[in-house]
Amino acid sequence: MELKHVFSPIKIGGMEIKNRIRMSPMALGYAEDGRSTERYARFFEERAKGGAGLIDWALWPYRTEHGYFPWVFDDKFIPGLKKVVDVVHAHGAKIVGQFGTGYAWAFRGGPLEIVGPSGVNLLKRPSTPFRVGTPTARHMLQERPMTVEDIHEMVEGYGHATRRLKEAGFDGVELMLAAGYTLARFMAAETNKRTDEYGGSLDNRLRIVREIVEDMKKKAGKDFPVFTKISGAQFTKNGYSLEECAEEIVPMLEDIGICCVDVVVGWHEGPEFGLSNSARPGQYLYLAEAVKKKAKIPVIGGSRTNDLRVAEPALAEGKIDMISLGRQLLADPETPNKSKAGRFEDIRPCICCCWCLETVDTPVICAVNPRAGREYKYSVEPAKNVKRVMVIGGGPAGVEAALMASRRGHKVDLMERQEQVGGMIEAASIPPFKDDLRLLLDFHRRQLKKSNVEVVQGKEATVMDVFERNPDAVVVASGSRPFLPDIPGITRPNVVLAVDVLTGKKEVQNEVVIIGGGLVGCELAEYLIDKGKRVRVLEMLPRVATDLPRVLRADLLWRLRQKKAQIETDFQVTRISEYGVWGIRRSFEYGPNEAFFEADTIVLATGYKPEDTLAKDLEGKLPVINIGDSASPGNVKEAILGGFLAGMEL
Ligand SMILES: Cc1cc2nc3c(=O)[nH]c(=O)nc-3n(C[C@H](O)[C@H](O)[C@H](O)COP(=O)(O)OP(=O)(O)OC[C@H]3O[C@@H](n4cnc5c(N)ncnc54)[C@H](O)[C@@H]3O)c2cc1C
Ligand SMILES: Cc1cc2nc3c(=O)[nH]c(=O)nc-3n(C[C@H](O)[C@H](O)[C@H](O)COP(=O)(O)O)c2cc1C
Ligand code: SF4
Repeated sequence: MELKHVFSPIKIGGMEIKNRIRMSPMALGYAEDGRSTERYARFFEERAKGGAGLIDWALWPYRTEHGYFPWVFDDKFIPGLKKVVDVVHAHGAKIVGQFGTGYAWAFRGGPLEIVGPSGVNLLKRPSTPFRVGTPTARHMLQERPMTVEDIHEMVEGYGHATRRLKEAGFDGVELMLAAGYTLARFMAAETNKRTDEYGGSLDNRLRIVREIVEDMKKKAGKDFPVFTKISGAQFTKNGYSLEECAEEIVPMLEDIGICCVDVVVGWHEGPEFGLSNSARPGQYLYLAEAVKKKAKIPVIGGSRTNDLRVAEPALAEGKIDMISLGRQLLADPETPNKSKAGRFEDIRPCICCCWCLETVDTPVICAVNPRAGREYKYSVEPAKNVKRVMVIGGGPAGVEAALMASRRGHKVDLMERQEQVGGMIEAASIPPFKDDLRLLLDFHRRQLKKSNVEVVQGKEATVMDVFERNPDAVVVASGSRPFLPDIPGITRPNVVLAVDVLTGKKEVQNEVVIIGGGLVGCELAEYLIDKGKRVRVLEMLPRVATDLPRVLRADLLWRLRQKKAQIETDFQVTRISEYGVWGIRRSFEYGPNEAFFEADTIVLATGYKPEDTLAKDLEGKLPVINIGDSASPGNVKEAILGGFLAGMEL
């Protein structure tokens, strides 16, 4: 598909942007003591070089809880910011700084406080739904209503910070009015119950935004473009609707002097899992489209729209003016350039695993791209001594190691015992909403085909095979095998393994008990419920699916509740019989008591242990690097990191 519209220029707020791709702001946490770093410069350099037309950098106009986030509350931060701006400009991209107010501000040199218009807490408990940069549990977590003096100070704070952006060379500034952060709470009637001039009518509720924009323009110049990011609808109980957003809020923002609006999904307090894997690519573009129908200013849309081929028709039909890409540009900074060249097969896909979101309070990482945020540390250079390398195992760890080693010039053989490479990803991509993992599997297979790696499939490597090939180094990536707990009856014919069920090797009857409530057990439960089975999950710990990032976990558990999965926690299985499972329920109220659950089929999702026999047999005989699950059973993130580091180390 030709991406004519994606790669056509656009003028916003007087600035010419070379294409319609805007990198979404992401709180990356690469600052040190609030100062920008070389790490930021190299990170954004790769994204600008990779072809994004407009880069949006998440910055803080106030002092946050810790200095991982770049601050703009003092002139001393300007030189650090400028270094990043210059490097982005050098590659032909524009850069805007987003001020995400989170939920907090530090007034008059005092402590950081959670503040808002009126202290309304939609969670019905003293906490913020999302903690980026806000005070942590040791501080007060109930929103303090802001005084008029506070409001004036905040307005001035934004103004001064915007002047600093201008001095650092930024092309514009963006105000965060989405997700339920402080300014969004002023805007929404549901959270703004003030009776002064900052509450009541929409005009009053937007007064703080109007004053901020006026002050920004006073201090940075009337032509300095002010963008905004807004939730198309709140999706909370009494929140504003998409209609209200399109017909009332955005027109008022236009009058205030906003030059562009990015429309995203919902508030953190809302029920939409907009960033989770259950959100389908392009699912939320309709929000931007509705706003665009009424708007006079350009409208940006996106969220989970990783593939620019999804964006092209939306741009061509005038549904949006620009597409925003967030996580896909973490996964592959060259997505724009590769798409432009039609090299879609070379794009490393974001698998929507949400580990980036999980690490948002620390330096953000990407599961599929270990270099994201580590560009300053790792550049891929040709190897000084070319080696003959043998990789054993074609899961994500082995493939990643083989590709990286080969890219650096080593001569690589990869041996996989299955008919095709892919490892555990085949099974992992089967449960509902796991199809993004399949994109990684396909990417790996395509890249192996295009590489110089010699792949032998359908052959189990032995010590003899390794010796026969006499490599200079061996990378063992032989994965894991199921861990079978010592439970009487575990070898009975009514007991099967989770992976065998997913891959169709084993059938299950109608009444199923899954032993183990980690990611594998919980996802399998949903898969089987969707197939019409009655499912009960037994977990000995107090919580289930704790090995999933919080975004995915919350979404999965919500779906399991909707689908009426039976989940027993604090339950220790003691034996398995022909008719079901016996165990001890540790009840806080009644103490331990024995329970029995009837089942036709019992599925084991009790974890994995390293398949490391080969690694041990080769140890001391050849240089061996053991990676991925065969070193320590984990996840794709760890497997890919292990493969990447092995490829770099060789
Ligand atoms: C059902 C399920 C769902 C999962 N879901 C997720 C998820 O959502 N997110 C996530 O991050 N992780 C998930 N995981 C975990 C993830 O799949 C693994 O951590 C990851 O695949 C490990 O990669 P690896 O390359 O180390 O091992 P594997 O993927 O297990 O690959 C090892 C490969 O080595 C081959 N092999 C072994 N011995 C030999 C030999 N002697 N010779 C040749 N070949 C050999 C095997 O055939 C296999 O192909 C899931 C796991 C399961 C079981
Ligand atoms: C690690 C991470 C941090 C984020 N931080 C911010 C932020 O500071 N400000 C903001 O407006 N959006 C933030 N977002 C949301 C993104 O800008 C974007 O709207 C969201 O990821 C959906 O787009 P995507 O599916 O293309 O990633 C963040 C997202 C991620 C993954
Ligand atoms: S960590 Fe996962 S969700 Fe985040 S960008 Fe990387 S692949 Fe995508």
